[in-house]
Amino acid sequence: MKLAEDKSTVITGAASGIGRATAKVFAEHGANVVVADVDVDGGNETVEAIEDDGGTATFVETNVADQDDVQNMIDTAVEEYGGLDVLYNNAGIDGPHTEIAEYDVDGFDQVVDVNLKGVFLGMKYGISAMLEDGGGSIVSTSSIGGVNAVEGYSGYGATKAGVSLMTKTAAVEYADQGIRANAVAPGLVNTQMVQNIIEEEPEMEEEFLAYEPMDGFSDPREIANAVLFLTSDLASRVTGVTLPVEGGFLASNS
Ligand SMILES: NC(=O)c1ccc[n+]([C@@H]2O[C@H](COP(=O)([O-])OP(=O)(O)OC[C@H]3O[C@@H](n4cnc5c(N)ncnc54)[C@H](O)[C@@H]3O)[C@@H](O)[C@H]2O)c1
Repeated sequence: MKLAEDKSTVITGAASGIGRATAKVFAEHGANVVVADVDVDGGNETVEAIEDDGGTATFVETNVADQDDVQNMIDTAVEEYGGLDVLYNNAGIDGPHTEIAEYDVDGFDQVVDVNLKGVFLGMKYGISAMLEDGGGSIVSTSSIGGVNAVEGYSGYGATKAGVSLMTKTAAVEYADQGIRANAVAPGLVNTQMVQNIIEEEPEMEEEFLAYEPMDGFSDPREIANAVLFLTSDLASRVTGVTLPVEGGFLASNS
């Protein structure tokens, strides 16, 4: 069963990791995908991989913290694919990894700009486009770090908690206008973001691997499948939730 047939779908941070995996999964399920990212080479590689598999996608260079870029990203979906059915606000950065007293202020601004303002801008322009055409479905990437405190990740965690709250607000504001808004909260996913942290701080690998009761890290496609479910008609009555996709971490740590 195809769960995204002909859906005009925008995915941010789709040059890598969870975003790329989600772009591929949506294309496999029949979606027309706008791949948005600051990384031009990675974005084009995602599009090539989708086209090689017979899917439809286009790349739009986008800094999610830039208002004009985000408007352009949404306009591209409307012009190329006839509207906007699905928006996945996924682009994110981890920011500094230090306790609050040592936390770099510019680094804090940057993580807020990308992870929180980026989601706000996506919703602002995405919702406007969805309202023109009878509604749609939004998912944003939160994190277990937005539910529980992780030492050294105050800025990151605050943005991810903000993503969940903004998701609830969007859900309530547009519930009677055909728009659902949900979030996913991954645990530890095997992507470049996690590999970079492990390269810088090798002792973190063992700590990260111990987070989730299930073995190993999540595969990016496991997050992608949850996003697909939330945007599909299978989740037609689900709105305002942050769905944990984290191998049981929150069952033992909340
Ligand atoms: N990997 C994990 O364990 C994990 C856990 C919880 C949440 N997350 C979240 O998942 C999302 C995806 O992360 P990932 O693990 O796939 O990492 P990743 O680094 O592989 O991918 C992130 C992508 O976002 C893009 N990006 C960064 N800044 C951007 C900007 N300003 N505008 C547009 N694109 C930008 C990057 O170029 C990259 O392609 C992030 O929001 C991250 O916080 C990841």
